[in-house]
Amino acid sequence: MLYIGIDLGTSAVKLLLLDGEGVIHNVISREYPLEFPQPGWSQQDPEDWLRAVMEGIPQLMEGFDAGQVAGIGCGGQMHGLVVLDRDDRVIRPAILWNDGRTAKEVEYLNETVGREELSRRTANIAFAGFTAPKLLWMRENEPGLFGRIEKIMLPKDYINYRLTGVHCTDCSDASGTLLLDVEHRRWSEEMLELCGVREEQMPRLFESYEPVGQLTPEAARRLGLPETVIVCAGAGDNAAAAVGTGTVGEGACNISLGTSGTVFISSERFGVDPHNALHAFAHADGRYHLMGCMLSAASCNKWLMEDILKTKDYAGEQADISLDRLGRNRVFFLPYLMGERSPVNDTNARGAFVGLTMDTSRADMLQAVLEGVAFAIRDSLEVARALGVDVRRSKICGGGARSDLWRTIVANVLNVCLEVPASEQGPGVGGALLAMAACGLYSSVEDACRMLVRTAGTVEPDPALAARYEGRYQIFKKLYPALKEVFPSINSCK
Ligand code: XUL
Repeated sequence: MLYIGIDLGTSAVKLLLLDGEGVIHNVISREYPLEFPQPGWSQQDPEDWLRAVMEGIPQLMEGFDAGQVAGIGCGGQMHGLVVLDRDDRVIRPAILWNDGRTAKEVEYLNETVGREELSRRTANIAFAGFTAPKLLWMRENEPGLFGRIEKIMLPKDYINYRLTGVHCTDCSDASGTLLLDVEHRRWSEEMLELCGVREEQMPRLFESYEPVGQLTPEAARRLGLPETVIVCAGAGDNAAAAVGTGTVGEGACNISLGTSGTVFISSERFGVDPHNALHAFAHADGRYHLMGCMLSAASCNKWLMEDILKTKDYAGEQADISLDRLGRNRVFFLPYLMGERSPVNDTNARGAFVGLTMDTSRADMLQAVLEGVAFAIRDSLEVARALGVDVRRSKICGGGARSDLWRTIVANVLNVCLEVPASEQGPGVGGALLAMAACGLYSSVEDACRMLVRTAGTVEPDPALAARYEGRYQIFKKLYPALKEVFPSINSCK
C-alpha cells in the first residue's frame, strides 16, 4: 500500500509518496505566496494551501496506482489562526506563527493574567506567534470579523477539514494555541473564556496517529483517490519532523533548519521549563516534548541569497567558505529578521551584521549568517542544558540540513554529534508514518520509527573547531543584550 505525507510549510507544501517499507517513491513541492502587510506581520491565504494540496496530490500520483493509497498524514506549520464563518468560508487571511502584531496582547497575557497562571493553565506562557494572542488581537481590532467566527483551526486542520469534513486537530499542534491544558490534553475552559471563544468553535482533539475520517466523495473525486483513504489527525510540523527523524523516547533530540529553526527534545513524561523559555508541548507519539523555536533560520540564508545577493546558487556561494575559515570569522549576524521567539521572546528584535571592516568579504557575510543561525539555535539548547538535559547527539532535518557546510557549523557550534536521516523531509515523512499507524500498519508511532527511519550519516564535532566556536559564541551572546534597547527606537523610525 502507499501513504501520502504532507508537509504544509510556510514557503511551500511538500508532498511525499511512501510505501509501507518507508521507501520514498515521489516528492513534489508547490510554492505559495507569503504576505508581510506591515513590518513583522505575516499572513497567508488558506485557499492557497488548499489549492496547492488539491492540485499537488494528482501530480504526485502521476504514474502510480491511486487505488493503492491507504492513508494521508499532514505535518503543518504551527500556531496559525484560521477562522471560518457559518458558511464555511475563510473569514480573513491566516495570521502565521512568525507574525509579531500581538505584542500588546502578549504583554497583557504575560503581565496581567500572569506567566505563572498561564503556565498553570497551559504549561506555557504567551509568545507573539501563538494562537490565543491572535484571537485577542482580532477581537480588539476586527470585532466584526471576530463576531462571525464559527470554527477556529490551525493550518493543517484546514486541509484535513476540506479532505474529510471533520473539524479536528491533534494535541501536538493544539499545544501551540495557548488554549490547551497540555498535561491533560484537553481544551482549557479558562483560556477559552479569556479569549471569548466557546468550545463548540474549537476543533475536536485527537492524537496525531488517530484516524479522523475518510475522504469525502468530493475530495476523493478531485484528488483521483479512493474514498476509503484514511486521513489521520497529523501533527504540528516539528512533532511530525521528530517522528520523521525517529525522535521519540526519552531525551531524543531533533534540530530543524527550516524557515524556522527548532530544537526539539522528546520526553516520556510531562515537564515544564520553570522559566517557560522552552515550550512544553504534547508529542505526536502520545507523550510530550520541550522545544525552542527561532523565527528565522534557513529563511535568513534565503533572504541573503535571493533578496540581497540575487542568486539561487547556494552551493556555489558556500564553496567560497573553506573549512579552515570556520570559527575565525570576525563578522557576526543576529538572525532576528522577524523578531525572535526562543529564548528572548522579543517582537522588537531585528537582524544585524556586527563587526564589518573594509576587508569584509561577501563570503564572510554569508558565513556570519550561517553561524548566527547556529548560535541562536545554541541559545535554546543552552536553556535545555541548564534544565539538566544532556544533549550530545541530535538528528537534523529541514532544507538547511542539505548543506554539508551548515551541518558542520551547527555540529561544532553546539558541540553535538549530528545524525543525518536518509531523508531531510522530516514533516512529510512523519506525516506518512502517522498515517501508517492510523491505518494499523504499525501498532505505535515508535514501532513505525524503529522499523522505517534510517540514518544516512553522522557529523562529529571536531574538538579544535568546537573550541574556536565556543569563544565566538561567548561574543555572540553579548550582542543581543547590547542592542536590545536600540531596537524599539529603530522600529519607530518613520
Ligand atoms: C514552532 C513554530 C515553527 C512553525 C514553522 O513553534 O512556530 O516551527 O511551526 O512552520
